[in-house]
Amino acid sequence: MWNYLLVPILLCLSKDLPLVKAETSASLLLPSQRGGKSSSDSLSSDSSCTILDPNLYYRPVIGILSHPGDGASGRLSNDSNASYIAASYVKFVEAAGARVIPLIYNEPEEILFEKLELVNGVLFTGGWAKNGLYYEIAQKLFKKVIEKNDAGDHFPLYAICLGFELLTMIISEDRNILESFSAADQASSLQFVNNINIEGTVFQRFPPYLLKKLGTDCLVMQNHHYGISPGRLQNNLKLSSFFNILTTSTDDNNEVYVSTAQARGYPVTAFQWHPEKNAFEWGSAMIPHSEDAIQVTQHVANYLIREARKSQNRPPAGKVLDNLIYNYSPTYCGKAGKGYDEVYIFTQLQPRI
Ligand SMILES: *[C@@H]1O[C@H](CO)[C@@H](O)[C@H](O)[C@H]1NC(C)=O
Ligand SMILES: *[C@@H]1O[C@H](CO)[C@@H](O)[C@H](O)[C@H]1NC(C)=O
Repeated sequence: MWNYLLVPILLCLSKDLPLVKAETSASLLLPSQRGGKSSSDSLSSDSSCTILDPNLYYRPVIGILSHPGDGASGRLSNDSNASYIAASYVKFVEAAGARVIPLIYNEPEEILFEKLELVNGVLFTGGWAKNGLYYEIAQKLFKKVIEKNDAGDHFPLYAICLGFELLTMIISEDRNILESFSAADQASSLQFVNNINIEGTVFQRFPPYLLKKLGTDCLVMQNHHYGISPGRLQNNLKLSSFFNILTTSTDDNNEVYVSTAQARGYPVTAFQWHPEKNAFEWGSAMIPHSEDAIQVTQHVANYLIREARKSQNRPPAGKVLDNLIYNYSPTYCGKAGKGYDEVYIFTQLQPRI
């Protein structure tokens, strides 16, 4: 006790700085140095670091599927082959300790699926496209994700907003299953399903105070015209056997829709809301930016990457580097005061692999 009190006093009084420094470092005992253990029975300094789990992969890479268009209604590119990824999804992945490889939806399929072999999980973004090549590719990627998991490789998928809507259509095999909701450009709360067990879900490591606030405060951003009601999901055998509903939210007309769902047997999580926006998008005044809201972004990102570290895939480092998103530059488009702040646009369909 004395030592700790003494240091600040010395710092204040002494003009002999080198001596003070020496006193300070001698007084700062690490937990492992306490208790008078002899050096022989204490652990070596190396092993006092976190022991890495050999079953986990600490260099995970996430594949993000690009969406048709430039993400800015033609303000950035009218190229008919253009597709984009809002940079917020990339930052979301990076913030949790992973890197991104873009899966460009309209590049040659063999290239796209070769890139899938370089990643440890996949993310489907928001957007509007629900048919054509984009839908087909999302369907094929989803099938591959399921196959990888069935084959024993833990391989997570996050499906956000449109991503959730696509999964709903793909799994139900019903292109008309979605319902209309009035939930454009608004923040909402998340209502947890009664007696839901959040163990093994995205919410597991949320601190209790934040789980509580999710139900009372508007901490998540919604921006959608479609969705699915809990009733319609439960009444569809294919959907209800695949998904467990975790949360619901309410639209402008008091209609209830499924806002978060977790697959029963797979590391697949679907969000009607936008976990990536709170920390990384500024184009709408409705996006929550409170510290709690930023925590939501971070916890949701952490769960995706925590799951991706369980993937068995160990892609060749060189091929990963050749295909990382860092081979592209984002474009700032937030000056228009709406839409995304930064987007990655892909127009060249040249193979990089
Ligand atoms: C794309 O076309 C629209 C409509 O013609 C035009 O206003 C816009 O400037 C074009 N965008 C680019 C990047 O050239
Ligand atoms: C779009 O891609 C197709 C197929 O690769 C190509 O034939 C066409 O020229 C491209 N269009 C533009 C505008 O680059």
